[in-house]
Amino acid sequence: MEEIKRILRDPEYLACLAENGRRERERIFCRHDLRHMLDVARLTYILLLESGQLVETFGVRGRELGYAAGLLHDVGRWRQYDGNGDHARAGADLAGPILARAGFAPAEAAMITRAVAEHRQGGTEVLGRALSRADDLSRECWQCRAREQCYKADRMETAAGLLR
Ligand SMILES: [Fe+2]
Ligand SMILES: [Fe+2]
Repeated sequence: MEEIKRILRDPEYLACLAENGRRERERIFCRHDLRHMLDVARLTYILLLESGQLVETFGVRGRELGYAAGLLHDVGRWRQYDGNGDHARAGADLAGPILARAGFAPAEAAMITRAVAEHRQGGTEVLGRALSRADDLSRECWQCRAREQCYKADRMETAAGLLR
């Protein structure tokens, strides 16, 4: 997990988390902080383990890839508040250099950035699909005070499973 530790210490990564925090200080809906990133990282890894495709798809690198995708998936959220479009696309762009500095091989970095770029659409590959579902499962919609105003509460599995 050395690469994961390097992501968590990466100055650019920490700066992006700080920007997310600064822009979401007054936000009533879900925030995109380190806790959310860690929740999604852990859930992504669990879903990959449960899928039975972890070793077959990633060999011994599944845990690193799952954690990296989770930790980085909302790294570009702050750019969306600046009116710069889709945070998933922005996040993929920001994640590339962070992954390279952390020591991920180019082919692994490509898998992770693709999963980050697609995390709002369900994902097209094993990693992206796990990441996208982990993101939905990570939110406590059933007890959220802003649920009535949230545009996506109705399609969140955590709302559907516990409230309906
Ligand atoms: Fe996101
Ligand atoms: Fe997220």
